[in-house]
Amino acid sequence: MHVLITGGAGFIGSHLLDRHVAAGDTVTVLDDLSTGHLRNIQGPLASGAADLVQGCVTDAPLVARLVARADCVYHLASAVGVQRVMTQRIRTLDVAVSGTHAVLDAAARDGTPVLIASTSEVYGKITKMPLREDNDPCIGPSEIDRWGYACAKLVDEFMAIAYFKERALPVVVARLFNTIGPRQIGQYGMVVPRFVEAALAGRDIHIHGSGEQSRCFTHVHDVVRSLSALMATPAAYGAVFNIGSNEEISINALAALVNDVVGTQVSVQHIPHRDVFGDSFQDIERRVPDCSRLTKMIGYAPSTPLRQSIADVAAAMRPALALTPA
Ligand SMILES: NC(=O)c1ccc[n+]([C@@H]2O[C@H](COP(=O)([O-])OP(=O)(O)OC[C@H]3O[C@@H](n4cnc5c(N)ncnc54)[C@H](O)[C@@H]3O)[C@@H](O)[C@H]2O)c1
Repeated sequence: MHVLITGGAGFIGSHLLDRHVAAGDTVTVLDDLSTGHLRNIQGPLASGAADLVQGCVTDAPLVARLVARADCVYHLASAVGVQRVMTQRIRTLDVAVSGTHAVLDAAARDGTPVLIASTSEVYGKITKMPLREDNDPCIGPSEIDRWGYACAKLVDEFMAIAYFKERALPVVVARLFNTIGPRQIGQYGMVVPRFVEAALAGRDIHIHGSGEQSRCFTHVHDVVRSLSALMATPAAYGAVFNIGSNEEISINALAALVNDVVGTQVSVQHIPHRDVFGDSFQDIERRVPDCSRLTKMIGYAPSTPLRQSIADVAAAMRPALALTPA
């Protein structure tokens, strides 16, 4: 099978690539390397199991050529991370909306199966947990930057379902919650790699806000296993699936757990959200997914304990930081 992964040089995309190559598939990666890295896909490129087309997913003729050669398409290319989304507003919206449209339109020509990566951001400010796929979204006002990303991803979902209904496109939407693991970088605001990197380097851990906000983190191996299972399950087409864990942890407790797993005792500093993101930032207190729809569909839900996931992140970072275990 030949697989196209947009955003395949990124964190989640490169793990998905590894999974398909291990299964004997060949993979084309379409990536502009804006946040992805060649080092993530060096092995499969060198072995000839994968090739990289460096380009933009909004380039519709290029996307059409690549989709025409593929047996299935995972569409992951997107601006990611609150910091990036809030500083590259137009690009974020354009890539999400035009890029997804280009992928869906190309796939509809031959009925090529597609998976669209969406995000738990589409739930917005809902406070009732756990979050179910059929909840009414509660996205904030358009003056607040972070909601532009949520809204654009929701438009992607509507577009995917419209192609399923009107053009019979086999398409499935994956709503990803916080995903962590080796190769994720902290540069654009992702909390676990930022904390682990600080601990390994002996620097203070910076918590944005009170730290009482909580999240549920899922190991990337569990996530890509779910993505490929959804792609391989025709009954999943035309629907939206949460992919996440229900192991909820406050950000303060996460910082303590990182210190414990890494074997350090670095201090923790709380930085007000406005000092990091400006006055108009709105944070979310909790995000807990209900994954029963996913479990029912593919007989599986992510389950790697958070402690193990943090240990994997630290193990992958240590050589890069030239540090030895504490
Ligand atoms: N990591 C998470 O916790 C998380 C949570 C929710 C949703 N997601 C979704 O998962 C997908 C992958 O995220 P990730 O965490 O691997 O991020 P990532 O930044 O590591 O990967 C995104 C990849 O897309 C590429 N890219 C960006 N814009 C592009 C463009 N215009 N054309 C071609 N390539 C482009 C980047 O270079 C990068 O390789 C995204 O769609 C994101 O919205 C991720």
